[in-house]
Amino acid sequence: MSLAEEIRALAAEGLRAFQDAKHEAGLEEARVRYLGRKGKLRGLAKRLREIDPSERAEAGRALNEVKNQLEGAFHKKKKEIPLGPLTGGREERPEDLSIPGKRPRLGHVHPVTRTIREMVAVFERLGFSVAEGPEVETEWHNFTALNIPAEHPSHDPFDTFYVEGGRVLRSHTSPVQVRVMQKTPPPVRLIGPGRVYRPDKVDATHYHTFHQLEGLAVEEGISFADLKACLTMFAKGVFGEDVRTRFRPSFFPFTEPSAEVDISCIFCRGEGCRVCKETGWIEILGCGMVHPAVFEHVGYDAERYTGFAFGMGVERVAMLKWGIPDIRLFVSAEKGNDVRFLRQF
Ligand code: DAH
Repeated sequence: MSLAEEIRALAAEGLRAFQDAKHEAGLEEARVRYLGRKGKLRGLAKRLREIDPSERAEAGRALNEVKNQLEGAFHKKKKEIPLGPLTGGREERPEDLSIPGKRPRLGHVHPVTRTIREMVAVFERLGFSVAEGPEVETEWHNFTALNIPAEHPSHDPFDTFYVEGGRVLRSHTSPVQVRVMQKTPPPVRLIGPGRVYRPDKVDATHYHTFHQLEGLAVEEGISFADLKACLTMFAKGVFGEDVRTRFRPSFFPFTEPSAEVDISCIFCRGEGCRVCKETGWIEILGCGMVHPAVFEHVGYDAERYTGFAFGMGVERVAMLKWGIPDIRLFVSAEKGNDVRFLRQF
């Protein structure tokens, strides 16, 4: 038999092998046997060099034809053949549809983001929309426009991070109020969630970077009663319907009158426990009626309009809501960003 004939004979054999393969593993075995690097076709190809030059052209042509034929047959079969059994075994078995699938691990929304979303959802129902401002602020927006005098303690470098160019890392979200009022005529109803910075000593309840949620409503005829109604609905929306609120007189330069709001302790329902220091109440935010000086700074007519404002710490709300004992769990390198913590939310 000439080499060309041997090659053509191999074609018939190989085609049958591909044809007869019953599953992926079998087909792969046949491919290795006929088309593999050490397979039968290569074996014959190696002999090309040894044969009489007059036969070489014919044998070469046969080799190419057969190679193409076998490869074609292999690829065609590969498309038709059922996938191998899931166990990877070689014997023919139908797929086992009862084997449980691999469940992909789902990511989680960070508890701070989740809290912001829940708070925003409550205020959106009350007609507020979300506004944002820069985290690097001018002193004018962070202090002056908010009627915070130059000698106020929060101007002290210990309470605010100063950066180059006379700017600050905003120490509260209140400058968002200022920016919105500067570019929007009344009425406005906004909430401004965002990151704020303070050079506080880090402990279980203080961190240099945290979040606040600011609120502002300005309209003709807005009163302290509107403020009380709005924040009471907020407290119930976030902490539960049976939560009560209490407004205590307080002071902020940008509001007059000002108040701090307590909620009835969500752990002891007001009976007195360690968290509320036996008082039955937990402070959650500061608020008040916008000071006319603030309206003047942004060009609002303080004779015609009144408004209320409020601000609160997001981590604090989250810690109360889920009983999280340490603010550092949200972020810090040594304790936080721990997926075991984050996965709970
Ligand atoms: N900016 C205050 C703070 O950082 C919180 C605050 C209090 C915001 C009263 C207000 C407000 O808008 O009316 O502690």
